[in-house]
Amino acid sequence: MAAVGTLLYLGAWMSAWSITAAVSSSPVKLENIRWLSLDFKTVLTWTCSCSPADYNYTIWFSQGETVDWMESLDCIQTPHFECDLSEDLKPMDRNYRADIRVEHHSFDDDFDENPHMFSPPFNPYRQSNISAVQFSLVNVNKTTVIINITDPVTSFHHQGKQSTIRDVLKKDLKYKILYYKAGSTREREVVSDSSTATVSGLEAGLGYCFMVAAFIPKRPKPRQHGAWSQQQCSQADTHILQELSFGAWVGIVLTLLVVFVIIITVSVIYCRRRNKRNTSRHTSSSPI
Ligand SMILES: *[C@@H]1O[C@H](CO)[C@@H](O)[C@H](O)[C@H]1NC(C)=O
Ligand SMILES: *[C@@H]1O[C@H](CO)[C@@H](O)[C@H](O)[C@H]1NC(C)=O
Ligand SMILES: *[C@@H]1O[C@H](CO)[C@@H](O)[C@H](O)[C@H]1NC(C)=O
Ligand SMILES: *[C@@H]1O[C@H](CO)[C@@H](O)[C@H](O)[C@H]1NC(C)=O
Repeated sequence: MAAVGTLLYLGAWMSAWSITAAVSSSPVKLENIRWLSLDFKTVLTWTCSCSPADYNYTIWFSQGETVDWMESLDCIQTPHFECDLSEDLKPMDRNYRADIRVEHHSFDDDFDENPHMFSPPFNPYRQSNISAVQFSLVNVNKTTVIINITDPVTSFHHQGKQSTIRDVLKKDLKYKILYYKAGSTREREVVSDSSTATVSGLEAGLGYCFMVAAFIPKRPKPRQHGAWSQQQCSQADTHILQELSFGAWVGIVLTLLVVFVIIITVSVIYCRRRNKRNTSRHTSSSPI
């Protein structure tokens, strides 16, 4: 009885297996489908459980709830495991899905039979990462600085000019500025609508450090901030010591060193002389 049971089980398993095999028609399996997007350059990547040289891939995409699928013209029969969809996913503020279809000359033209895999949904406008910005500090007066931010560039061009993230996000792009007094841990924060931000109300004569990140309040919370910039500090102007250049410090240290060496030398010579005199006096006064 046990043997019959095993046979029945095996039979069921075999038929299930042959159905699966017929549907997928090959052991090709797509894995690790990911969207990588920085400053609105959006690339779909994947891996395959197959021998890379054996297959090509064609990428289709669709917008929102529609069922109209379109081919990405740069990714038809590509042998690569990635596809740049930046130009295809427009308008950007939509949820897109991509379909990676495996191609082989032996496959039927009927797509439904061939192996393929859907990507997770992706909205470039809301999900693209924003890189760290560059900025410069301009001192207006003792209590006010202007932070001059350079908007990161995208991979898009418009009328021969490279577009920035400001051209894409327009009024949705703000910048968040974190700053603190040198030597203090209390941070303050300012949000600026424009790429030229004014920070006022600083304490005269103190040094402050600033950090900047793109800030998009329209996005869901975890994706509102771009990467933080490097920190830049303004110089305090109260202490003369802090204003000395490196050269001046080297000069001071060398001078101190020379003085020290002279003092040591003089004392050594003085001690020797005294010792000699003592010894000779001692010798002369010794009993005969
Ligand atoms: C954005 O950056 C984070 C952290 O580096 C990363 O985990 C995520 O995959 C990136 N998202 C996209 C769409 O590139
Ligand atoms: C992949 O595409 C190239 C060019 O379109 C074609 O020459 C090649 O035969 C294709 N490879 C396979 C495995 O279908
Ligand atoms: C510094 O400049 C700001 C803006 O130009 C101005 O409002 C402020 O009164 C100035 N402060 C001083 C101390 O000059
Ligand atoms: C900000 O920087 C840009 C380019 O670096 C420069 O052209 C512009 O004059 C600067 N603005 C201010 C207020 O310093």
